[in-house]
Amino acid sequence: MNKASQPKRDNKPHTGKSLGPVNNLEHHLHPEWWKRIFNSIYLKTDADVVGDDKITESEVTIFHELLEVKNGHSLLDLACGQGRHLIELAKRGDYNLFGLDRSRYLLQRAKSNAKKRGAAVNLKEGDARKLPYAADSFDFVTILGNSFGYFEVPEEDAKILKEVFRVLKPGGKLLMDIADGSFLRKNFIPRSWEWIDKKHFVCRERSLAADNRRLISREVVTHTDTGVIVDQFYAERLYTEEELEMLVDKVGFREIQLHGNIKVDSVRNQDLGMMANRFILTAGPLRNGPLKKVRKTSAMWLWLWEIPI
Ligand SMILES: C[S@@+](CC[C@H](N)C(=O)[O-])C[C@H]1O[C@@H](n2cnc3c(N)ncnc32)[C@H](O)[C@@H]1O
Repeated sequence: MNKASQPKRDNKPHTGKSLGPVNNLEHHLHPEWWKRIFNSIYLKTDADVVGDDKITESEVTIFHELLEVKNGHSLLDLACGQGRHLIELAKRGDYNLFGLDRSRYLLQRAKSNAKKRGAAVNLKEGDARKLPYAADSFDFVTILGNSFGYFEVPEEDAKILKEVFRVLKPGGKLLMDIADGSFLRKNFIPRSWEWIDKKHFVCRERSLAADNRRLISREVVTHTDTGVIVDQFYAERLYTEEELEMLVDKVGFREIQLHGNIKVDSVRNQDLGMMANRFILTAGPLRNGPLKKVRKTSAMWLWLWEIPI
């Protein structure tokens, strides 16, 4: 379909009503959807993972061991959300913990959760592409729980990695935990619905974007008494392990390693969506290691090579 014949992209949030059936999910995706959906409803729809302390504890055990964090180390959790990983990390040692997120609502939750649990964390509101920290500030930077690949073009994703590179100390380490793109491309659920608590249910639709590189999702959240609360669309670029390795390598990281996958086992265990199967990548130390020979496994990721970094 050429551009002129495409329906106009609908940029309005759809709160309080549903659009009804739509032919093409991508046409309804706001380019900056990530500014809108990380709110109290997200904490309900994703509660089976991000609201489950047991899941967070086991994730932090994995990250903590991989990074070998020691007392006195500094760690920034980028896109920290409601601070679940930072608050759990604070229990494990005397670390200097920092968190940054774009959602004011989730940061407020992070602050009150940290206070309640006596965790010392420094939280800031901001955009992961332009970090308010000096160069060489942190021993570790983490990007956890699928907080990457949200932008319209991969050049914007790369900006986050460049900023991480800048704020990490030489010898520091990046750890990413993101959706396994090759798994999701084959296994995403095109339609589902589930009860998320006694009063709310969510209906989901998913499809691949026209470029085949993003998974577009729609969620219609309904309250049993008041009806539809929100009809919203979001997207994530599907990075395979090789593609992410390559992007990280292009930015200049060295000693890139893959550490297998996290397969979430939630109590609700119905539709885990993008959280279902994630892989872990670490990269570092910076600036002094040998260049990783990135494997050329398929033509699919060659598009990444063309990104100007
Ligand atoms: C799926 S949530 C994961 C949150 C947290 N890491 C966790 O595992 O619970 C993604 C987070 O990314 C944040 N985010 C999205 N776009 C962002 C941006 N451009 N800069 C900073 N944070 C962003 C959202 O506000 C949200 O908290």
